[in-house]
Amino acid sequence: MSHPNYNLLLKELEALLEGERDAIANAANVSAFVMENVPALNWVGFYFLKNEQLVLGPFQGKAACTRIELGRGVCGASFRDQKTFNVADVHSFADHIACDTASQSELVVPLTSNGNSIGVFDIDSPLKNRFDADLQKFLEGVAEIYIKSTNFD
Ligand code: SME
Repeated sequence: MSHPNYNLLLKELEALLEGERDAIANAANVSAFVMENVPALNWVGFYFLKNEQLVLGPFQGKAACTRIELGRGVCGASFRDQKTFNVADVHSFADHIACDTASQSELVVPLTSNGNSIGVFDIDSPLKNRFDADLQKFLEGVAEIYIKSTNFD
């Protein structure tokens, strides 16, 4: 699949977030920006750690499950292991939590700010194998820009 210029998009995102450090406002704009600029996605959004659960934050896509127990689903596994989970086929991930039945592949990036695990950035696609190495690197770059542009205190 031909893809957008990811380096240019990362620069545009930095510019979009410049001057705003609110976690909800920036998560909302990151979700909209990725959904608008990356083809073949059906869900882009955030879950934040609150009282030992991952709680739904700003997103683009269909209404989703609001709370995920730590360690559950792709999101909980990524949060627990503190690494990106790139699931080429969600039906082969035993503990996948289906929010939108259209989702076929999923990528989850853990979010860490000043050494604190604060949540995850979750992206779903209606295509299997959607997240190649370039797209994974881009989405990890998006998460990094979100973290460095935002104040979580
Ligand atoms: N599929 C995720 C749940 C969140 S939705 O994709 C928005 C999971 O297995 O953790």
